[in-house]
Amino acid sequence: MKTNSASTANDIGNTQDHPQTQKLEEKSRPYKRSISRRSFLGKSLAVGAGTVGAGFLINTRTARASGALTPGDAALLRFPAALEILEADFWIQYNELGGIQDSEVPGGSGIPAYHDALSVLDEDMDQYIHDNTDDEITHHKFLNAYLVSKGAAPANLNPFRTLRGSIATGVNPNLIGKRLTNLTQLTLDTSWWTRYRDDSHNPDLDPTHVFPQAVPSLHVGQHTAIPRTNADLSNANFVQAMANTASFHFPTIEQGGNSLYPSLAQRATMEETVRILISIGPTETMHFQTWSDKAGNAPPLTAVDPVTGVSVTFPNLDVSNQLFKKNLIMPEPCPFLSRSLPIVSIIRPTNTNGAAMGALRFLTAMGLFRGQSPAFFAYMTQLAQAADAARHGGF
Ligand SMILES: [Fe+2]
Ligand SMILES: [Fe+2]
Repeated sequence: MKTNSASTANDIGNTQDHPQTQKLEEKSRPYKRSISRRSFLGKSLAVGAGTVGAGFLINTRTARASGALTPGDAALLRFPAALEILEADFWIQYNELGGIQDSEVPGGSGIPAYHDALSVLDEDMDQYIHDNTDDEITHHKFLNAYLVSKGAAPANLNPFRTLRGSIATGVNPNLIGKRLTNLTQLTLDTSWWTRYRDDSHNPDLDPTHVFPQAVPSLHVGQHTAIPRTNADLSNANFVQAMANTASFHFPTIEQGGNSLYPSLAQRATMEETVRILISIGPTETMHFQTWSDKAGNAPPLTAVDPVTGVSVTFPNLDVSNQLFKKNLIMPEPCPFLSRSLPIVSIIRPTNTNGAAMGALRFLTAMGLFRGQSPAFFAYMTQLAQAADAARHGGF
């Protein structure tokens, strides 16, 4: 097991300077105008960060010769660093309520009814939630530390820790009102379920193909994956619905990282950047594989949110149709690169063009950032655009 200090979960980047949100907005504007990479990457390595002082700035002409990161490679690491901070933020929320709170992942004291509803899917759900949380914390801490070690700006989302989150008994009271992500108004695209069971379509070759949803009702309306207040715990069927929603949120998120890392790695210039991206990426795949297996154990049910009136139905996926069959958790082979080649079992999509903005749009559509400020979206867009502008062999 990895060892983290007791302060790991709550001190994310506390030693970094906090950018002024207004400055971030200002910095994002010229970015849109100067999408031509030459025009903005020639200026400094800190493009897109908006968070650092002059000490981090490095002349791009000397970057490669000195072993420092090229601006493109820094951007390819900084965007995932930001996403990992966001991942850690919501995984910490899950761990507080349904995981194992310990010195590795401290904070919160759990909600027994929610914890037990999760354990209906697998008795080790709390351990898996804990370990996934631990992994994400190490991902962003490593990526940011690596960026700093190379004289590049880290990702910093501390100014945006403003969302309320759950106030149910069991959360870490110190983090109420200090969340980055919103787990209470999710709209989940569960089409990954059929995308990985379909042996004749690949989103990279069939960008307009619509993969059916595993849980269609999660793809419409807004659903909470965690108890918002103690009142949410009065109906056992709704508690199970929240646990089921969480269990589909887990793989929905992790399959995104599963695609993002190989997508970005194709445009890295330096060997070590490639090594980092292709070493972290497969751990997201391991998360996805685990969670896609557990999601299949979500008990079929229909529940209505007592606060919003929104209904959710979890269908019985114990079917013979290959597109939905729940034990087909390993990637079915599918077309790759060209239909003239044989089908192959692969991660998909891995198209590199616009991969970072695609990931940001996916997470935004999920509702994970509902309540966040325009400055937050400006900052994340800035990082994603810089990552998408990076080119293999370029600066
Ligand atoms: Fe991660
Ligand atoms: Fe992850």
